[in-house]
Amino acid sequence: MTSRSSAVLDVAQAPFYRAVGDEVEVFRAAAVGGLPLLLKGPTGCGKTRFVETMAAELGRELITVAGHEDMTSADLVGRFLLKGGETVWVDGPLTRAVRAGAIFYLDEVVEARQDTTVVIHPLADHRRELPVDRLGVTLPAAPGFQLVISYNPGYQSVLKNLKESTRQRFVAIELGFPPPEIEREVIAHEAGVDAATARALVRVGSAIRNLDNSPLREVSSTRMLILAGGLVAGGLNLRTAVQSAVVQALSDDADIVAALGELVDAVLPQP
Ligand SMILES: Nc1ncnc2c1ncn2[C@@H]1O[C@H](COP(=O)(O)OP(=O)(O)OP(=O)(O)O)[C@@H](O)[C@H]1O
Ligand SMILES: [Mg+2]
Repeated sequence: MTSRSSAVLDVAQAPFYRAVGDEVEVFRAAAVGGLPLLLKGPTGCGKTRFVETMAAELGRELITVAGHEDMTSADLVGRFLLKGGETVWVDGPLTRAVRAGAIFYLDEVVEARQDTTVVIHPLADHRRELPVDRLGVTLPAAPGFQLVISYNPGYQSVLKNLKESTRQRFVAIELGFPPPEIEREVIAHEAGVDAATARALVRVGSAIRNLDNSPLREVSSTRMLILAGGLVAGGLNLRTAVQSAVVQALSDDADIVAALGELVDAVLPQP
């Protein structure tokens, strides 16, 4: 059973997700009316995990598509394919989600071109329908259908690719890196490391995130810290684990790598 007061979702088989703010409550409320959701947040902060957990809690199928430059609306809606000499229509993932009442998660929505994302517009308002031009039909979204899109605001402006009129139909949730006490718990759980290791990794993460005038394009994400934890769980010493999973992953510039290495040495407990 789901405990509504608990911040940790404990539904059987639901992946572990530790809420950071009120995102679980917002998602649940939006799901009641099938309101579309826009998740914003840096890479590796838990957006995908959050959607997976909510889909499991709500008992909905989750269909995920990663947006990319070459994606066409046919990739989402479907196309006629030649099968054994016959032309057959094959639903795309969006059409499948619309028919099945699934959660459709379009990750990295800004990567897709506007002429592609335009197909989600009528699904993102009161119409809740998908025009399938090639079939000459308009499909009403089955109950339970919900559109979830996400992007990393640090990369580019979503306004470029998503019409303001569409964006305003989405309920927006901002996800960031969890505060230290929660991030420690997430790392310990995900990487299977002890509390002291998780604490040290969180300290590394915070130090890099709080750098003034940082030359880095990305900061150390929760995902990276979990990776480093995984190396420690695999028998590597903490310093080398952080060097490999965090420092080397963040930059290829020798000076920056050296500076980050020094920062990490200062932050990690002395061996
Ligand atoms: N609040 C959290 N609760 C549980 N696990 C978390 C949480 N935040 C991050 N994680 C962990 O961090 C990992 C990375 O998160 P996830 O893949 O969801 O990031 P993302 O925001 O979707 O990143 P990207 O933008 O690169 O797709 C997850 O596999 C999970 O282990
Ligand atoms: Mg993701």
